[in-house]
Amino acid sequence: MTTTDSTEEFGYTSSYLADPHAGQLARLRTLERAFDPLSHAVFNQLDLVQKPAILDLGAGAGSLAGWLGKRYPDATVTATDIDTRFLTDIPGIEVMTHNAATDGFPAASFDVVHARALLCHLGEREDILTRAATWVRPGGWLVIEDVSLRPSLRTANPVFRKVAQAGITLLEQTIGSDMLWADTLPDGLRDRGLYRVGHRTLEGRIGDNGPADAFWAATTAQAGPALLKRQLLTQDDLDAMVNLRADPGFTEAALTFVSAWGQVT
Ligand SMILES: C[S@@+](CC[C@H](N)C(=O)[O-])C[C@H]1O[C@@H](n2cnc3c(N)ncnc32)[C@H](O)[C@@H]1O
Repeated sequence: MTTTDSTEEFGYTSSYLADPHAGQLARLRTLERAFDPLSHAVFNQLDLVQKPAILDLGAGAGSLAGWLGKRYPDATVTATDIDTRFLTDIPGIEVMTHNAATDGFPAASFDVVHARALLCHLGEREDILTRAATWVRPGGWLVIEDVSLRPSLRTANPVFRKVAQAGITLLEQTIGSDMLWADTLPDGLRDRGLYRVGHRTLEGRIGDNGPADAFWAATTAQAGPALLKRQLLTQDDLDAMVNLRADPGFTEAALTFVSAWGQVT
């Protein structure tokens, strides 16, 4: 049986994944190392106007916003987050405190609106997608990137299966995340009338000491106390998973980084 503390707050910003957590900056860096190569490849193939106005929603620790500022030196890059503590000292960007779930922008404010690893965690994700499309100027791009944990559910390994399922349940119960939502992104953009919709994915494996492995391990470690508290896993389960990852014979697909883009009419 799982128990829930009724005084516990719900949502990303009060969760074990939120920025005040001691390990959060290091965890965000692992996400950046794993996801940045895909994001860079996607931006490199988009045709942008001269002097584009680019919005990065929920910019986190800002590696992508900083890269965008360098990649497009004539651009105005606005990086927003509900908690901007990690966005200081990044040259070439403007930083704004902004809640994507409740705050807006005037219609047609940007040539590119980008969000990564944000919407899967927000219950308002479908509404934000709709509103974010209105912030893009005609001919501009909406670029949405997220993580899907679907590959982890396909494993035949009982230890990995149990930990993966527990992680997805925890994210759903405590934050309201939908860790399979990323797979719907191309359809979500088409449904909103965007054209030239494209998508690209990058497989993330665990057990290979690669960047996705580091991100998966950091997130699971940060979630450990919450997994135990909710009795979704035991300490033995967590230890067994650490041993499995360390087994040189073990590596499996754990997640998919999904990038989807479309042009606004
Ligand atoms: C998993 S991190 C991703 C950071 C960054 N986009 C990246 O991919 O490196 C999610 C970020 O979303 C921010 N966030 C959470 N809820 C938010 C909201 N309602 N509005 C804006 N940002 C939010 C968090 O503070 C955190 O920095």
